[in-house]
Order: sequence, then structure tokens, then C-alpha cells
Amino acid sequence: MNYNKKSVKDVDVQGKKVLLRCDFNVPLKAGQITSDKRIVAALPTIQYLLKNGAAVIACSHMGKPKGEWKPELSLAVVAKRLGELLGQEVIMAKDVAGEDAKAKAAALKPGEILLLENTRYMKGETKNDPELSRDLASLADLFVNDAFGSAHRAHASTAGVADYLPAVCGELIEKEIGVMGKALSDPARPFVAILGGAKVSDKLNVINNLLEKVDTLIIGGGMAYTFLAAKGCGVGNSLLDKEKIGYCREMMEKAKAKGVQLLLPVDTVIASHFPDPIDGPIEVSTVSVDAIPDDMEGMDIGEETRRLFGDAVRAAKTVVWNGPMGVFENPTLAAGTIAVAQALADSGAVTIVGGGDSAAACEQLGFADKITHISTGGGASLEFLEGLELPGIACLQDR
Ligand code: 3PG
Repeated sequence: MNYNKKSVKDVDVQGKKVLLRCDFNVPLKAGQITSDKRIVAALPTIQYLLKNGAAVIACSHMGKPKGEWKPELSLAVVAKRLGELLGQEVIMAKDVAGEDAKAKAAALKPGEILLLENTRYMKGETKNDPELSRDLASLADLFVNDAFGSAHRAHASTAGVADYLPAVCGELIEKEIGVMGKALSDPARPFVAILGGAKVSDKLNVINNLLEKVDTLIIGGGMAYTFLAAKGCGVGNSLLDKEKIGYCREMMEKAKAKGVQLLLPVDTVIASHFPDPIDGPIEVSTVSVDAIPDDMEGMDIGEETRRLFGDAVRAAKTVVWNGPMGVFENPTLAAGTIAVAQALADSGAVTIVGGGDSAAACEQLGFADKITHISTGGGASLEFLEGLELPGIACLQDR
């Protein structure tokens, strides 16, 4: 994968109509935006374009309407918030690339911004339909992709449109691939990766790819129990991906053969049942990983493990973290995730947090401003760590 892509700063945008793909797929509750992080992350490119004389035609998907016009997934709520953040009107189109979008795009002047409706209102979006790509391209002179969170999707508005317009990246994608690309291709060492989250099966290729690159691989969270089972520990009622025990053995052998230090939990916080509600009260105790009773479930890393993982992070020059160490939504089961976030925050290393749950954990726990880079992509950052080519980036012009 070539990460050296032309950016919006490498081309002339003055007087151009620019189709700008953002990831405005923000979380909503009762019709209100609960985190505007992704809108804020898109601002530098939008402001750059507006200031430099471009007319911006922004677009994004929201949720999974599957080609249906679901009003609760309209981007109107994003237009309002974006307008507040920019301090200027964001004109809202009534459709994606239909009559209204065409008329409003044609009338758009330099320094103005139009937002198209949810691209997934169109059936052709997720099918990467050339007709929709052509319609979108017909609105503009240049395509700028800044939707890192959607870069792993080969859809009409993320990749297809680049067949019909010159295509470059925005500042957010430039930063995402700059920081993560450098970490994966030329990291300052020791390079430590920490993986957590529920299932081994979600991270099979990430583990395999990272073992080619890191000096130390740390496994925590729910997925650690399958590794512990592969080592011969009884894991009680803890999360277990039985079919992947063989795979974990293979990965442990691979680590040994490559001289990679593979760190697993040595103690674990156990409880008799999963908390319900998730942040409700729960009684816990801590045991060694080889002493988990049959009727108990491991839900966080123990104190000794927190120290072990923390020491490895503090000795690192590059750290990549993806996935929480326990059920961090519950204050009693958050200590492991907090300890890892704290170790990253304290370290002088280049620290990168892959999106999704670990990014949310860093923000909720108040460590976000101490991390070098928190990715705005969940699935996209995982595929990046897997070493896969992301279609929304591969389609852009090389420098
Ligand atoms: C995300 O939230 O991860 C991106 O916006 C992609 O959304 P998707 O998984 O619905 O394609």
C-alpha cells in the first residue's frame, strides 16, 4: 500500500467545485448528535478549501439505510452542527445527486458549502455503482476524500467517484496515513502493540500482521482468554473462541520464531456474571490466570498484569493500541483499560490509538490530549493494521 498520496495542498483549488467525502457517520440518540468528534475532525480540510476559494460539496453516509429514505438518518442534523462550528450557513440538499443537489451545486459560489443527503439513501452507493459515481462526479471538478473512517469501503462516494474526477486526500486522511503508515513501515523501536476487545476472530489478521512488525505484542481483553486456553489454562466462563485455540497456538509459535515478546495477562478480575446493566454494581475478586474457577468469568486484567503491560508500554518508542482490556464501561472493571491509557499518556513514545472502543475509552477517561494520534476510524484503522489496501485511499493520486 502506497501511503504517499497527493493531498488537497498539492493541487489548485481556487475557483473549483470540490466534492468532499467526509465521515459524518456520527452517533445519534433521539435525533441528537452525541459526539461531534468526526465533524470537528473534518473542519481543517473544509476551512482550507473555503478559505482558498473552493466551493465545497460535502457528502457522507449515516448509518445503514440500505437504499431507503429513512428520515431519522438524514444529514440535516449534521448540516446544522457543521454550520455552528464553521460560523456560516451549510446549504442542505434534498437529495444525493438528484435535481436539487445538481441545481444547488451549480449555483454554489467559492467560499460556500453544500451538504448532500445521506449517500446510502441511494442503492448504488454500497454497490459502488458507476452511474451514481458519475452523477456525483458531475457535480464537481475535483474529488477530495477525507473520510478515513469509511476508507475501507469500496463505495461510490468513497472510491468509485475517483474514476471520473482527479482525486486527492484531505488533511485528516493525510494525518491518519502519515502517522499510522510510518508506525507500520518505519517505527521507532521498541515497537509495542496492545490488542484487546472481545473476540480473537475479529483480530486474526491484525495479530498475524503485527507479529511481522512489532518487538512486543500485548494481548488483553476478552480475546486473551482464548490465548490463555491455548496455553492450557482453564478459563471458567470467560469469553472463549474455541475454534480459534489452534490459531492462538500458531500465533504463539510464530511470535517465538520471530523473537517477538508475546505478553498475556498473568492475573484477572473475575465475577460470577456479566454486569446488568453494564455499568451496574458488581462484586469482583482477582485471581491468577491459572486459577479461574469454573463458574466465574474474567472481565478485566488484574493488578500484576497492569504493571507488566504498563512497564512494556513505558519502555516503548512506538505504541499502537486497539481494544479495551476489560468491560471498561463499568467503573469496577475499568482499571485495566485506565492503566493502559495512563501508560500511553505517560510515555514519551509515539502513541497511536486505533478507533472504536479504545478511542472512546481514551476520550471518556480524559487521556485523549496526551495521545499522539487517535484514529477516527474503527473498521478502517483495523484493516490498516492488518496491512490491507484501503479502497478509499488506493483510488487517490500518488504524489
Ligand atoms: C464507521 O463508523 O466505522 C464508518 O463510518 C463506517 O461505517 P460502516 O461500518 O457502516 O461502513
